Amino acid sequence: MITKCCNFRAILKIKEKKLTKISGVGGFVPAEKLTNADLEKMVDTNDEWIRTRTGIVERRILKTPGKATSDLGAEAVKDLLAKTNTDIAEIDLIICATVTPDMFFPSTSNLISHKVGGGEIPSFDIAAACSGFIYALQTGRQFIEAGTYKKVIVVGADKMSAITDYTDRNTCILFGDGAGAVLLEASDDDCGVKDIRIYSNGIGAETLYQKAGGSLNPASMETVKNREHFIYQDGKSVFKVAVKKMADVAAEIMERNNLTGDDVKWLVPHQANKRIIDATARRMNVTEDKVMINIQKYGNTTAATIPLCLWDWQDQLKKGENIVLAAFGGGYTWGGAYIKWAYS
Ligand code: UT7
Repeated sequence: MITKCCNFRAILKIKEKKLTKISGVGGFVPAEKLTNADLEKMVDTNDEWIRTRTGIVERRILKTPGKATSDLGAEAVKDLLAKTNTDIAEIDLIICATVTPDMFFPSTSNLISHKVGGGEIPSFDIAAACSGFIYALQTGRQFIEAGTYKKVIVVGADKMSAITDYTDRNTCILFGDGAGAVLLEASDDDCGVKDIRIYSNGIGAETLYQKAGGSLNPASMETVKNREHFIYQDGKSVFKVAVKKMADVAAEIMERNNLTGDDVKWLVPHQANKRIIDATARRMNVTEDKVMINIQKYGNTTAATIPLCLWDWQDQLKKGENIVLAAFGGGYTWGGAYIKWAYS
């Protein structure tokens, strides 16, 4: 009898479990642009090569002295709070995904919280490179679904210009600065985050990384002289894995949720390279008009690319639309998500 009663309660609990919805999107990019023409004057490159090999035309760079990733993130959060008519006092948790923290500690989310008047709100960072936003979404969603918190902000923010070597043509053409933020709340219907898959494999550690500055190679005269505090990337090697894994995880998300290309209204891909995005869309059988692409405007903003797409497209998104997110980045890390959009 007791067992039966417990089982009944467990079933009720499962039925009561609500999805997590994204109930608002905020974003911020600095005003200053770095164009392909500007880069032509800095390194041996040209507009045609950059456009055809990457799809990038210009990027935004945060040049104001004394401003960092937390300032980008704080602006995105302020935009989010204003748009959703939310007071910061209502927020239970802030999570920030970034690979360019203002400093090792305190965390960038601590600093963002302070800049937006967060008081004693708990906050922490997630380091998963270009997949950081999907990792942070998966983390934030757990707090909502467990019933621990009511309102969680997830930020993806990176000031990539701080770790970009503007003498290295292999990498300096790729990156830009920006931040996006979303508000997570419990959903009252079947719209919300339906499924997320995240993966990592440390096999990629030395193909895309910042060699020095951490506990392995602490900063020294030598590391500075050897330019080891900047991004290093073996582009070709990363490209090969990215093209496969980003498409694989998107296809996996579709299979797990019985989605065809026609069912998907929007693909929201990480913006590292237009050719990787196109390959993912082809694999998913999704036509180009349904793919959010803003790489031409912002370049690769790492953890910010996906929320910045949602920010750019927010007026076009309608309740009930099926959205697939997909990302791949350093680590390696990769991930995908299926979201039924929750508002118009
Ligand atoms: O977001 C995190 C994950 N990252 C990625 O997903 C990025 C993956 N990788 C890529 O997107 C591409 O590999 C890059 C865009 C970085 C490079 O494109 P690629 O087609 O793989 O070019 P490559 O590195 O094989 O270089 C081809 C040629 C080389 O010359 P040679 O050796 O063939 O004579 C490079 O030296 O292009 C040269 N090159 C350039 N030429 C003009 C490399 N960078 C440049 C440049 N301008 N900026």
